[in-house]
Amino acid sequence: MAEHSEATAGLLIGVPRERATGERRVAASPDSVKRLITKLGFRVQIEAGAGVEAGFTDAAYAAVGAQIVDLEAIWGQSDLVLKVNPPLLDPATGVDELAGARRGLTLVCPVQPAQNKALVERMAALGLTVLALDCVPRITRAQKSDVLSSMANIAGYRAVIEAAHRFGGFFGPQMTAAGKSPPAKVLVIGAGVAGLAAIGAARSLGAVVRAFDVRPSVREQINSMGAEFLTVELEESGEGAGGYAKTMSPEFIAAEMALFRAQAKEVDVVITTALIPGQPAPELWTEDMVQSMKPGSVVVDLAAAQGGNCKLTVPGAVTEVHGVHLIGYTDLTSRLPTISSRFFANNIVNLLEDMGGSTKWRINLDDEVVRGCIVLHEGALLWPAPRPPAPPTPAVAPPAKAPTSAPVHAHPPTSPSRWGPVAALVLGAVALGLSFVAPAGFVQQLTVFTLSCVVGWQVIWSVNHALHTPLMSVTNAISGIIIVGGVLQAGAEPTSLAGVLGAVAVLIASVNIAGGFLVTSRMLQMFRKRS
Ligand code: NAI
Repeated sequence: MAEHSEATAGLLIGVPRERATGERRVAASPDSVKRLITKLGFRVQIEAGAGVEAGFTDAAYAAVGAQIVDLEAIWGQSDLVLKVNPPLLDPATGVDELAGARRGLTLVCPVQPAQNKALVERMAALGLTVLALDCVPRITRAQKSDVLSSMANIAGYRAVIEAAHRFGGFFGPQMTAAGKSPPAKVLVIGAGVAGLAAIGAARSLGAVVRAFDVRPSVREQINSMGAEFLTVELEESGEGAGGYAKTMSPEFIAAEMALFRAQAKEVDVVITTALIPGQPAPELWTEDMVQSMKPGSVVVDLAAAQGGNCKLTVPGAVTEVHGVHLIGYTDLTSRLPTISSRFFANNIVNLLEDMGGSTKWRINLDDEVVRGCIVLHEGALLWPAPRPPAPPTPAVAPPAKAPTSAPVHAHPPTSPSRWGPVAALVLGAVALGLSFVAPAGFVQQLTVFTLSCVVGWQVIWSVNHALHTPLMSVTNAISGIIIVGGVLQAGAEPTSLAGVLGAVAVLIASVNIAGGFLVTSRMLQMFRKRS
């Protein structure tokens, strides 16, 4: 089903009920079904009862145009099947969710192909085309389709709710006639998507939040959410590492553990989310730290499924060790099934929309997102996608970073444009030509202007895209200097050309300053939590 040529009836999407134990999410919501049908031209069939545990009734799906069918129809008739979990396959027990799958259908779901080799082989034998949602590249353009990010965000929030449920006190400070209670102290380890969501949720409950991450670049995000960024007293600049993806030295890990040991005596709640992609979760919260926590404290280990940041946590369970609650739930998103299903379903619709919808459906292997997440194309194995070229090694080693742990949200590093030197040469030639005819003062001014253009160009091109907005607000200071110059010029010779130009410069620079402050303040509002 590489190209679709049906003119009248759209491709048929099927959504089964999830059969994984404890799973309450579903891969389509009534809203997403509506978009699939009315905007993208698909037809949709939902297995009876598929959305009940997420709060979506069959009637709600039917009301937006979906057909309610049985499981046999889902696997036997659909062109595309959408799922929240990989299909179940266990030869030992005879479980095979793909038993009724039509040859050549397209499956859109998380696959974890590295861990599920037998499943990939089974799907290849059925000639399926498989888009693995967990392999959608973490690039800016694909964020709207990134289920890992949207689910991690929900998991971080839910981790705080679970912790608050177990914790024997308030999160926020209280002062009542019956007594007063200080705010709970929460430590978040790993400030990726889940960690930042946890910080936001804990702050909104009024807790005092501290956070640690091996990536210093998250400091601003942590601080802007009202949490304190913890640092280790260690000079590790990355010298000798020779590149971006630098494994933290044993000394750094030792310093990190010393920091956590000191924190363990103080904090009431620890939420660990530290993960290095493709590796087992690093052990960061050791038994002696658990032992030194106050009785009744809580540890939520989001990485429990990957081996745990705390080896004492039991995946999928809550246990009590040394009087501390250890929460190892691996289904945090499924514990908020309605919103998780809605976000998950929206991520899928966004992906299908980018792939052309029903009318222009195409598996375009030149598309970075499709190439990144396609595992099988009509049974042919295409996974793993070729790795993108490595970023150039910077001349100066960057600050210490976790090995390959940084989410790939950021833009690749930019190199100064080759047009900068060309423009400089052209301006230089013009200045030289003018030096023969123009007054000496003019040539001097032009030289300063040319040099500032070149230097400014080089500096701005070297700044990461993510920092352009703050950079622009900082350049408002330059507008201030322009205003001073403009006012002097306009005041001295108001009727001359220079005076008029000075007045225009004052006007434009004022607009720039006011607009810059407005945009910056709106951006800060987006990150600031109401306290
Ligand atoms: P992420 O990759 O965005 O964030 C992980 C963070 O850990 C990164 O910021 C990284 O720099 C940091 N880190 C790595 N090593 C560290 C160290 N030694 N010390 C401090 N920080 C360190 O990952 P994301 O998406 O936020 O997910 C976090 C975890 O949550 C993952 O293990 C994921 O599988 C899990 N998760 C769990 C769910 C559940 O139900 N339990 C649901 C969804 C996600």
